[in-house]
Amino acid sequence: MKTLRFGIIGCGLMGREFAAAVARWCCLTDIDTKPEIVAICSRRGHAFPWFTNNFSSIRQVTTDYAEFLANDAVDAVYVAVPHHLHQPIYCDVIGAGKHLMGEKPFGIDKAANDTILESIGRHPECFVRCSSEFLFFPAVQRIGAMIEEKAFGTVLEVNCGFLHSSDLDPQKPLNWKRNIEFNGEYGCLGDLGMHVYHVPFRAGWRPLNVRAILSNVVAERPDGIGGRAPCTTWDNATLLCEMRDPVTGSVFPLTMKTERIAPGEKNTWYLEILGTRASARFSTKNANMLERLEYEGREQTWQRIDMGHETAFKTITGAIFEFGFSDAILQMWAAYLHEFAHGNRLSPFAGCATPEETRLQHALSTAALESHRKRELITVL
Ligand SMILES: NC(=O)c1ccc[n+]([C@@H]2O[C@H](COP(=O)([O-])OP(=O)(O)OC[C@H]3O[C@@H](n4cnc5c(N)ncnc54)[C@H](O)[C@@H]3O)[C@@H](O)[C@H]2O)c1
Repeated sequence: MKTLRFGIIGCGLMGREFAAAVARWCCLTDIDTKPEIVAICSRRGHAFPWFTNNFSSIRQVTTDYAEFLANDAVDAVYVAVPHHLHQPIYCDVIGAGKHLMGEKPFGIDKAANDTILESIGRHPECFVRCSSEFLFFPAVQRIGAMIEEKAFGTVLEVNCGFLHSSDLDPQKPLNWKRNIEFNGEYGCLGDLGMHVYHVPFRAGWRPLNVRAILSNVVAERPDGIGGRAPCTTWDNATLLCEMRDPVTGSVFPLTMKTERIAPGEKNTWYLEILGTRASARFSTKNANMLERLEYEGREQTWQRIDMGHETAFKTITGAIFEFGFSDAILQMWAAYLHEFAHGNRLSPFAGCATPEETRLQHALSTAALESHRKRELITVL
C-alpha cells in the first residue's frame, strides 16, 4: 500500500469529513494507495483538538499558512476554506509543488477560476481535482454507465438540482456562506452548482445558452452579534439551458435548480434523464432507489431498483446495505487517490471533478448571473 501524505487547510465542516474518510480507509478493499494526514492548518486553533485527538499521524499543527506550505512532509493538500480564499490558497499550494484537492466553486468567481487554471497550467506536475461527491451514489454510477453505453438513445430532456431548506428560517443568523464578500456573487450557484453540473458535464453535454431566474428571498438576517445585516447572495436559482450532446449532435433542454430555501428539502440532490430508448431518475431523498424505464416499442414500465452498496470502489460493506453521504465522500476520496496513483479513472464516472469541469461551471454560472440581470437568454459556449 502506497501512502500519500496530506495536509488540510481549513479544519471546518469539510476538513473533518475528509479526516473521517481517512479514518475509514480500511473499508476500501481494492485500493493500493492510502492518505495519511500529517499536517493541519486553520485560521483559529479551536478546531485542532478533534484532529489531534483522533489522528496520531499529525505532526504539524499551525495557524501559520506559510509555515504549513514550507513543510516538505506534505505531498498533497485538501483545501476547504471560504470561497474568497480559493484563488490565493489554491495557487499557493500548487506554486509550492503540492497536489491539490480543492473545494467548489473552485474560485469565488470566473476571474479567480481563470487564475487558478492558469496556475495549474504552469504546474502540470501537480495533480488537481475539485470535490464533488454525489456522482458516487450507486444509482448515479449506474446512470453514468447507462450514459457510457448510450442506453438513453436521443436525450430528450434532463432535470437536475440540489435543494436545501437550511435558510428557510429568516431568523437564522448570517454566516460567511451568506455574505457576498466571502461567498461571492454566485450565491447558491457557487455553493451547490458544481454538484449539479457534474454529471451533465461528465456526460460530455455542453451548455449552449442559459436563461436564469435568481431569487434573493431573505434580504436581511440577524448578524449573530445582536444586530441585523444585509444578506445579498442569491438564495434560489432556476436555470434553463439548451444542451448539446456531442455524441448524437442532439440539442435538448436541461433544467437545473439550486435552492437554499426549498421547503421540505434538507439535502436533496436529484437527476432525471429522459431519452428515446431509456429514462432514469434518482433523488437522495430515496437514496437506495434507482428508477429506470427501458422502451423497446412495447410497454413503458418504470422499474424500481434497490441499489444497496453497489459502489465504484469495492468496500467491506455488505452489498445489500444502504449507501449515504459519508460513503459518497469516501468513494470520492478513493477516486482521487486512484487517479493520482494510476493516472486514469477507474471508469469515466468514477472520477472527481476536473479543473476543466470547474471552468465550465464558471462559464455557466457567470452567464446565469448575466441572464438574470438582463432578463435575457445568454450564450454560454
Ligand atoms: N463537497 C461538499 O459537499 C461541501 C459541503 C459543504 C461545503 N463545501 C465547501 O467546502 C469549503 C469550506 O466549507 P465548510 O463548510 O467546510 O466551511 P467551514 O466554515 O465549516 O470551514 C472553513 C474553515 O476554514 C478556516 N479558514 C478560514 N480562513 C482560513 C485561512 N485564511 N487559512 C486557513 N483556514 C482558514 C476556518 O477557520 C474554518 O475552519 C467551501 O468551499 C464550501 O463550498 C463542500
